[in-house]
Amino acid sequence: MRSAIDIIDFSTEEIEELLATALDIIADPDKYADACRRKKLATLFFEPSTRTRLSFEAAMYELGGNVISVSSAASSSASKGESVADTVKVVSNYADIIAMRHPKEGAALVAANNATIPVINAGDGGHCHPTQTMADLLTIRREKGAFEGLTIGLCGDLKFGRTVHSLINAMVRYDNVKFVLISPEELKLPSYVKKDVLQARKIPYVQTTSLEEVMPDLDVLYMTRVQQERFFNEEDYLRLRDTYILDTRKLEAAKKDMIIMHPLPRVNEISVAVDDDPRACYFKQTLNGKYMRMALILKLLKEAGTL
Ligand code: NCD
Repeated sequence: MRSAIDIIDFSTEEIEELLATALDIIADPDKYADACRRKKLATLFFEPSTRTRLSFEAAMYELGGNVISVSSAASSSASKGESVADTVKVVSNYADIIAMRHPKEGAALVAANNATIPVINAGDGGHCHPTQTMADLLTIRREKGAFEGLTIGLCGDLKFGRTVHSLINAMVRYDNVKFVLISPEELKLPSYVKKDVLQARKIPYVQTTSLEEVMPDLDVLYMTRVQQERFFNEEDYLRLRDTYILDTRKLEAAKKDMIIMHPLPRVNEISVAVDDDPRACYFKQTLNGKYMRMALILKLLKEAGTL
């Protein structure tokens, strides 16, 4: 059964196919309005979420399908000690496809190995978040036209930020992409991404602690939240959380056509005054996320033979 656990499960051709479907949905939503009639999506969220869960649910409704939902660990049998494996075996009897978020790295893979329907990873701990990356890719494609040749600044919590790990894995496939990794020492990109992905593929990157210094070089600035819930102590979190605050003054040094992205939720990383800057794309990203999730649901249900 084909599932979506990691962005690397998708070939470049498949990513292009998903982007093309999403663009077609945007151009002609009516064509897709009944595509998933009488099909059910189960959203199983064992960790907080607004956008990801609601965008999956909106995506299924816009495909004419239905949704059943668990929106917190506390309200489900997980609180009684039920395993992920058992939960998804049960849910496989009630739904046609699952979108699951879980605080543990690897939980999505366990789910996929036990479900008899496709599972979409909507975030597993600090590991990966493939559908956020799909939203990010559609945003970059729509705003910049192409992926090739871009210099992408990733700023903030590069250690625990799963969206960053997935985005790097997607963007390294395109020609002449460069990365600028901007983080405090304590929140640097994990070596399993730096060594196994960037160095292994000989992708140019620089690491810095200064956002100001590199601002003029960037085509894309991807801001992230410091992931409070993955810290072991509150003191470190409080010390690091406001290291980078993007404001209109810092943006003066940026290219006129640089785009500003953020997977949201924003805490303090981007001052609200930046929202009025035409380069701010983070709310557009949330809309693009819905279209890419529609495209992904269609693809997986077709491959499962359900559609
Ligand atoms: C991100 C996540 O959950 O990893 N949010 C999202 O899905 N849009 C980023 C975050 O929580 O900081």
